[in-house]
Amino acid sequence: MPHNYATILEQIADHVAKEDFGDARKADYIPALSDVPDDHFAMVIRGTDGQEFAIGMADQPFSIQSISKMFALVLAQRAHGDTLWQAVRREPSGSAFNSLIQLEQENGVPRNPFINAGAIRVADLITSRYANPDRSVAEFLGQLCGNPDIRVDNTMYLSEDLHGDRNRAIAYLMKSFGKLDNPVEDVVRAYFKQCSVAMTTREMARAAFFLANKGVGIDGQTVIAAEETRRINALMLTCGMYDGVGDFAFTVGIPAKSGVGGGIIGIVPGEFSVCVWSPRLDGRGNSAAGIRALEMLIRAIGRSVF
Ligand code: DON
Repeated sequence: MPHNYATILEQIADHVAKEDFGDARKADYIPALSDVPDDHFAMVIRGTDGQEFAIGMADQPFSIQSISKMFALVLAQRAHGDTLWQAVRREPSGSAFNSLIQLEQENGVPRNPFINAGAIRVADLITSRYANPDRSVAEFLGQLCGNPDIRVDNTMYLSEDLHGDRNRAIAYLMKSFGKLDNPVEDVVRAYFKQCSVAMTTREMARAAFFLANKGVGIDGQTVIAAEETRRINALMLTCGMYDGVGDFAFTVGIPAKSGVGGGIIGIVPGEFSVCVWSPRLDGRGNSAAGIRALEMLIRAIGRSVF
């Protein structure tokens, strides 16, 4: 790897430990998410040359939440091919990730697979084709990161289920438009379970690696075709950070996907995958320290996808 990533990561960790992220706070609409200490931070870079650099609590599991939506998309795409794009569109939403208004105005067809509506529809497509839809995303993540013990965190799942009224509302709205194939409860269960997977920052950097490496995972196996990684990276760039996507492209400029557990994955195609985790979120539901860390990393290496 052409840069001194170990030093860059140390500088980033020093900086975010000192920065005051103002109003940033942990998600609490899923109560189990607020159990994590505020100051947790970890960052891991996995290079296409096989090198890995880590800082902070890289081996502490966190709730992956919406980062799971990218992996679920890959599974749905495998089973349905391009007919998937009749079910979900590929446009940034410009709205909150759990908004209902746009979904009503657009007749129950989600703007993209990364807002909650789109991910619930993707979970519906997975439910139609996979034998164990409640476990398929967790198992896929286990294969990708080389740890077959990756699991759904049951406490988190129960917390999501208990506080899942808005996601149920989204699913019922789609159902009312005839845009959901399976029973709402089956679909939201699969969706809550994929969001409740617990993984470490290191495992997540490894799982996302195929997107930086022309579709080939850390074990040398092809996950998806190189051409398909370009499409997924394009979707992350345009839709991966919700209504913060424009600012993120402007200040950081790489494909990325966030989750309300405070994790973000990022991709510099051909060079590395990165995962950063810090639980306090900005107003758009993205990790405040995570965004700053990615901004510093990209500035230090002097390039983005642009
Ligand atoms: O459905 C939800 O609201 C959560 N399980 C996931 C939301 C999420 O991570 C949005 N990301 N920033």
